[in-house]
Amino acid sequence: MDLKNNLQQLKDHVSQQIHDAKKIDQVEKIRVNLLGKKGELTKLLKGLKDLPNEQKPVIGKLANQIRLMLEKSIEDKKKDLNEAFFEKRMDSEKIDVTLPGRRPEIGTKHILQQIQDQIEDHFISQGYEVKYGKEIESDEYNFERMNLPKDHPARDMQDTFYITKNILLRTQTSAMQARSMDQHDFTKGPLKMISPGQVYRRDNDDATHSHQFHQVEGLVVGKNVSLADLKGTLQSLTDELFGKGHAMRLRQSYFPFTEPSIEVDISWNLVDENTAPEDIDWIEVLGAGMVHPNVLRMSHLDPNKYSGFAFGLGPDRFAMIKYGIDDIRNFYFDDIRFLKQFKQVGE
Ligand code: DAH
Repeated sequence: MDLKNNLQQLKDHVSQQIHDAKKIDQVEKIRVNLLGKKGELTKLLKGLKDLPNEQKPVIGKLANQIRLMLEKSIEDKKKDLNEAFFEKRMDSEKIDVTLPGRRPEIGTKHILQQIQDQIEDHFISQGYEVKYGKEIESDEYNFERMNLPKDHPARDMQDTFYITKNILLRTQTSAMQARSMDQHDFTKGPLKMISPGQVYRRDNDDATHSHQFHQVEGLVVGKNVSLADLKGTLQSLTDELFGKGHAMRLRQSYFPFTEPSIEVDISWNLVDENTAPEDIDWIEVLGAGMVHPNVLRMSHLDPNKYSGFAFGLGPDRFAMIKYGIDDIRNFYFDDIRFLKQFKQVGE
């Protein structure tokens, strides 16, 4: 009868333990202590063989019932604890969908890129090709083909970094003029291209100079291209970028690759036919001219049959005028407070 009592006691004791357990690993320990190889129940059952034969099935049956019952409460307890654990976790990780969201910060296109995009869009709409040249150029295309032979004094203003004697960081996007003429099939019609990109010069940086800046080159070559075409082209560009109402003025100038050469000013203020000339604030925006016959000849074009105009503008300068920026270095300082002011519409 001892064994029966012991079994009952074990059952009560373990049931209490299961009831009191707070964690799953505690319950697992209880299971091992009870049913493992050296477990309490296992030990008790070893006593079965010493019982009188007629008691063996009775006690055996009882022991089996107790085992099944305890196994079940262990499983149930584990399940309960598991559920409680997840419920607690769900409660603590609850998401309040009514809270205001956190917007991801989206960057802004650099202001110079925005201006370049506007210029590109304008010219694409007029049937121009956009050609991106390379920042590393040959002396031939950067200078010689632009009518600046080796000892030309105008080279002094465009000193640059030479990688070898004939390979350099380009000083002007004009280098793309000759490359475009070389590639173009003039039997199919005129060449109309712009070429935006970065250029480099040996310069001491200050409020209006940077050793690295941007240009957009423009070139139209065909039959009967005139200075009037150039003027109309530039007027429609400035109208679009700065708005209508800014006057434009052409001044005579000098560039080795154009003849005649002009510099273009636009009025800072809005003017109409009643504005007195002395009230107009002129500001220079670009250089331009009619393509020099030497440049045409070097591209195997007969200057008696073909003519063209070219212009070179600085988007840095355009942006400074458009937004009243007084120091070119702002574009290159990467100061987020400066850059953030130029969010594009829709951003
Ligand atoms: N390449 C000139 C410069 O860097 C700018 C320029 C002037 C380009 C007149 C042109 C032009 O195409 O016709 O100063």
